[in-house]
Amino acid sequence: MRQQHDFLVLGSGIAGLSFALRAARHGTVAVLSKRGRAETNTAYAQGGIAAVFAPGDSFEQHIHDTLVAGAGLCREDAVRVAVTEGPPRVRELIELGAEFTRDATPFGYHLTREGGHSQRRVVHATDLTGHEVERTLLEACGRAGVRFFEDHHAIDLISEAKVVGGRGGDRALGCYALDTRSGSVDVFLAKVVVLATGGAGKVYLYTTNPDVATGDGIAMAHRAGAAIANLEFIQFHPTCLYHPQAKNFLISEALRGEGGILRNRSGEAFMERYDPRKELAPRDVVARSIDSELKRRGDDCVFLDMTHMTKAFLVEHFPHIYTTCLTFGIDMAVTPIPVVPAAHYVCGGVCTDLNGRTSIPGLLAIGEVACTGLHGANRLASNSLLEGMVFGQRAADTAREIAEQAPAAPRAPDWDPGRAVPPDEGVIVKQNWEEIRNLMWNYVGIVRTDKRLARAQHRLDNLVGEIQEYYWGYLVTRDLLELRNLADVARLIVACAQERKESRGLHYTLSWPQKDDARFLRDTVLMRGKPAPEAWPRS
Ligand code: FAD
Ligand code: SIN
Repeated sequence: MRQQHDFLVLGSGIAGLSFALRAARHGTVAVLSKRGRAETNTAYAQGGIAAVFAPGDSFEQHIHDTLVAGAGLCREDAVRVAVTEGPPRVRELIELGAEFTRDATPFGYHLTREGGHSQRRVVHATDLTGHEVERTLLEACGRAGVRFFEDHHAIDLISEAKVVGGRGGDRALGCYALDTRSGSVDVFLAKVVVLATGGAGKVYLYTTNPDVATGDGIAMAHRAGAAIANLEFIQFHPTCLYHPQAKNFLISEALRGEGGILRNRSGEAFMERYDPRKELAPRDVVARSIDSELKRRGDDCVFLDMTHMTKAFLVEHFPHIYTTCLTFGIDMAVTPIPVVPAAHYVCGGVCTDLNGRTSIPGLLAIGEVACTGLHGANRLASNSLLEGMVFGQRAADTAREIAEQAPAAPRAPDWDPGRAVPPDEGVIVKQNWEEIRNLMWNYVGIVRTDKRLARAQHRLDNLVGEIQEYYWGYLVTRDLLELRNLADVARLIVACAQERKESRGLHYTLSWPQKDDARFLRDTVLMRGKPAPEAWPRS
């Protein structure tokens, strides 16, 4: 199949859908998702969307909190854009039909609190905010005539240089995508290509992320020559449910915001030994404190204690978490919830300016796959849905301008499978996949050292070689494509972590435990086959 559209969006989470809805006013839009259209990180978001609505709150306070969490590396203009454009985006969602939790305040909606926020600032739909946002945007995009291609797994970008045999520029023209139902590889072409592929939590053994989060967009952009930055800053959420049958179930930070207490197995409320802000310290501090407590005591989990709250309050505010815990035999009104930290969010990604432009002409990036500079070295809770909406819309306006000047319909050859044969050794893919996720957890996790990073790099170099060989020899499958991307992204994370010889925000290494502003108050930028620039064009 060959498809030609004005705008090609890879990803159907909050960023891709915010873009698509606005871009549909200006041209035809195709949205690809590698599984069902609603299977996104967005749909699992619990806490909410950070935006200034409370009477005592102000843009300056939200900006300040974001900059403090970002540990010196936020780009202030990106922070200002996200914070000031957030409230109108939230109001638009409400106008589109999003049902957020209401209360009797003049604003009319309940605001919850999360770590690092100096005010109650988080708009939410009980503890199912992402589900409500995804539903609202999907319905609106449907009404706007956006075309969805589900089970279409983008393999690689098509660039002008590839099409005209190296004589053209590196403009992005589209992508090849595997239709995972039929097995065919389809060609999608467009005037503007938008990466909205989300995060890469699956690079780690333990993660809050669903299976789609394999870092495909970062890997594709890097292979195409785009600038990538700050991948050493992986956010570990402090509280993922610890239960043998629970896969990736998050226990929202909003529980601590509403008064939850972290205790060790002896019942001690240990956070006060680590930080005066206790349970409401920024995530990196809480996750590291839990990690340290687990290592110190040799325990396998800590506990989030909500038992001092009434069952009625818990059920009203956290119905999804309450009932899910119950299915695992935990009544959180009676029993503290066993929790551990897990990989949650990638602060770095494909470098963009404030309008989603990457270093490749015709290629935009938005949402978690992008590095706008909003999060710096650590993301403030609930600033991610905000980022997806704000920059998704801004990118749509930029895309319109790019499309107006884009060359006539590009041509591109069909996918060439070469001499590839059907895969016969699924066990190789499984083994490599598990090895990567284990080594990333053990060597490139919450606490790092130079030695562990070197070991990870060595193993990954070997694995990438094996995977490349397999990739060229066999017909592509979804598992193989994801494995290839996981391996590429893991290597990039390690490369960024090795560059940063200091501890800052989410990057904590025992080899360089101090912050070093003189040498490292800058981004870690990588570009394939080129010397890394110190910074990337940002406006
Ligand atoms: P996603 O929503 O992850 O969407 C990615 C899309 O890309 C999917 O449609 C996927 O199919 C598609 N895709 C990926 N690769 C390919 C490919 N190769 N080909 C085709 N399609 C592809 N943030 C907050 O601000 N507030 C919260 O309360 C909050 N809670 C969270 C709770 C959980 C459990 C998790 C996991 C995250 C949470 N986050 C929260 C983070 C936030 O949800 C994500 O950062 C955000 O939703 C990312 O949106 P996105 O549009 O960039 O990507
Ligand atoms: C949560 O609800 O704890 C997640 C919030 C976020 O990741 O921003």
